[in-house]
Amino acid sequence: MRARYAFVAALASLPATPGVRAEPAAAPAPVYKFASLAQTPPMGWNSWNTFGCNISEALIRDTADAMIKSGMRDAGYTYVNIDDCWHGERDANGVIQANAARFPSGMKALADYVHGKGLRLGLYSDAGDKTCGGHPGSQGHEYQDALQYSRWGVDYLKYDWCNTDDRQPAEAYRTMAKAIVAAGRPMVFSICEWGTNKPWSWGTPLGHLWRTTGDITNCWDCTVGHGSWSSSGVMQILDKQDDLRKHAGPGHWNDPDMMEVGNMPAVGEDRAHFAMWAMLAAPLIAGNDVRKMTDATRAILTNKDVIAVDQDALGLSGFAHRKEAGVEIWVKPLAGDAWAVAVLNRNRDTRPITIDWKQERFEDALNHRDTVFAKTTYAVRNLFARTAAGTTAVPLKLTVAGHDVAMFRLDKRP
Ligand code: GLA
Repeated sequence: MRARYAFVAALASLPATPGVRAEPAAAPAPVYKFASLAQTPPMGWNSWNTFGCNISEALIRDTADAMIKSGMRDAGYTYVNIDDCWHGERDANGVIQANAARFPSGMKALADYVHGKGLRLGLYSDAGDKTCGGHPGSQGHEYQDALQYSRWGVDYLKYDWCNTDDRQPAEAYRTMAKAIVAAGRPMVFSICEWGTNKPWSWGTPLGHLWRTTGDITNCWDCTVGHGSWSSSGVMQILDKQDDLRKHAGPGHWNDPDMMEVGNMPAVGEDRAHFAMWAMLAAPLIAGNDVRKMTDATRAILTNKDVIAVDQDALGLSGFAHRKEAGVEIWVKPLAGDAWAVAVLNRNRDTRPITIDWKQERFEDALNHRDTVFAKTTYAVRNLFARTAAGTTAVPLKLTVAGHDVAMFRLDKRP
């Protein structure tokens, strides 16, 4: 089993031309991760956005059950992630324990339950001596903690950045990455350093995803202050993803934070949030109460066509093709020369929009993908209406409500 997930230790290579004395090439950073994991953006659920510290074994079990009943598991949501505040104290040997009042059966029993449902369990820790919620952090206990998680059967670790003082992030995350590899159980490693020290520039050899921003909150376009830090609404987080797409790909994803789908003030906002996370090829980690979600929320979260855009095998993030008067057209290249298109209306009022495909050219210079619609015709599918929407031979006329989105998939006609 273990061999299937062998991690890769990349070695420096020197130029081999005989008789030529060249400068040694810069050594690639050694890789410390289970490199076969997260080939598409991770999907699952996390307790933080809705429950904060108000978590328990019963909540996690009920959530796992609800993920099955709602169709989320079958739509691809695999990880059931427990965020901050699951911790008890360290024992006399320094081994971390779960909070026995909140998790009376223990983490191993909970992992067994979740695994028995065909799901995986995630846990949270922090690179400082305390987590953001003031519970024991992993600093100085990395190997011990990774081993304990591995014994419990944990499959995913989110690793936060509170109380780290003058620790260097690349060192701190490397230490935990090495500890996970040494413990031997395949785990997705989620770097949660809020983008402060550009994790996209050092995170690929260590983790499978890295937060690009501070915390999300469930509003369209607001900032909420919390004293020394602030959280940002969905549009503000989206605007912070500019220029980052070149850093992401299979096994190493930009993470614009866990979703607030189901927690937004309006259904259109939930839809737009979900669509844009899919366009970014973001991890799809639901943050709502999936035990009590409405049919509308469930339909958004389990929309297979939109999920397929997020999970596309190419692993390319989308980008804004055009922005005009609060209406943005985003495009994302997909496998098989297909494209996803999202029309995002950031205004409060409804906007009529016409896309005259034949006047459009989609160009992803970074990935050398280019489509001139005057030359090539595509079939158009409306991903939220779940209907065919003609072809690119004729202009597409639509109205998009305020704070809402329309999303399409373009497939080359045979
Ligand atoms: C930080 C993280 C959040 C969450 C909390 C838990 O704020 O960014 O996602 O994990 O800590 O305390």
